[in-house]
Amino acid sequence: MYSYSGITALVTGASKGLGKAYAHELARRGAHLVLVARSGDALREVAAGIRAEHGTDVTPLVADLTDAGQVTALIAELDRREHTIDLLVNNAGAGTVGPFLTSSLARNVSSVELNVIALLRLTHLLGGRMADRGHGGIINVASIAAFQTMPYQASYAASKAFVLSFTEALAEELRGTSVRVMAAHPGATDTGFFDTSSATMNPAFTDAPEHVAAKTLDAFAKGALNSYPGRALFRPVTWITRLLPRATATRLIGRLNRSLGLHRAHDLDGTAPQDPAAG
Ligand SMILES: NC(=O)c1ccc[n+]([C@@H]2O[C@H](COP(=O)([O-])OP(=O)(O)OC[C@H]3O[C@@H](n4cnc5c(N)ncnc54)[C@H](OP(=O)(O)O)[C@@H]3O)[C@@H](O)[C@H]2O)c1
Repeated sequence: MYSYSGITALVTGASKGLGKAYAHELARRGAHLVLVARSGDALREVAAGIRAEHGTDVTPLVADLTDAGQVTALIAELDRREHTIDLLVNNAGAGTVGPFLTSSLARNVSSVELNVIALLRLTHLLGGRMADRGHGGIINVASIAAFQTMPYQASYAASKAFVLSFTEALAEELRGTSVRVMAAHPGATDTGFFDTSSATMNPAFTDAPEHVAAKTLDAFAKGALNSYPGRALFRPVTWITRLLPRATATRLIGRLNRSLGLHRAHDLDGTAPQDPAAG
């Protein structure tokens, strides 16, 4: 069983939400931390809280991970501080909600840059060092949205499908080595994920981020390839495209998301929804 005690873990998107929960749970299990996000004040507050509560070393580093130059600078800063990363938690993520063609192109692009390109860069840069050292771990936070198309969250689900496919392939490339990769697939989780959107989550169907973080880390410690840290109800969602033709599954999910009002949802930047399928 993998032990988190004494390792150094880098958690992206640790200023709030699931990333903050991963950071607390890792510290509770004895890990030292490097925390990354854009909001310096929030990040420093999380770091101070963890130091006070768990007494571990916590280094907050501010970076916009959609900027290749800032990713390079982040790695250089890790080197300058002589931090060796044993566990990378690619958690930072974002997404747009609502009809794709009337949603903000800039938001779609930046969320894919974060969910896909930043994850790819960090996995390559830090994973390469783990392979050279002969040990390490990477947890890529995907979603139950990774397993099927999601009309009205089209680019988000597609970006998470990338994370799932990429992670499984990389895990196979690394099989037999001491570097392990796992994808985590939370369901709806009670974070600020929808704060920049008119969409809301039904609190009756959301999990606590602390619970999701703990289950993710338990699964990684046991050597899982995929972790489903949400409530049991979410798991069958990941089977839909195994049970139904893809076109049928897409129609079903589209209907479900319309019933949840996602066809009327929009980012809170003044973009108005104009979905032709909206009833
Ligand atoms: N909440 C859910 O229902 C749910 C379900 C399944 C999967 N997930 C996944 O879980 C992960 C965490 O989501 P969450 O719900 O915790 O979202 P959240 O509350 O919105 O937090 C997102 C985190 O990412 C950071 N971030 C955003 N853009 C960034 C950038 N360009 N560079 C660096 N950091 C950036 C944010 O910090 P700053 O703004 O300070 O940069 C924040 O710390 C995501 O990958 C998401 O797709 C969430």
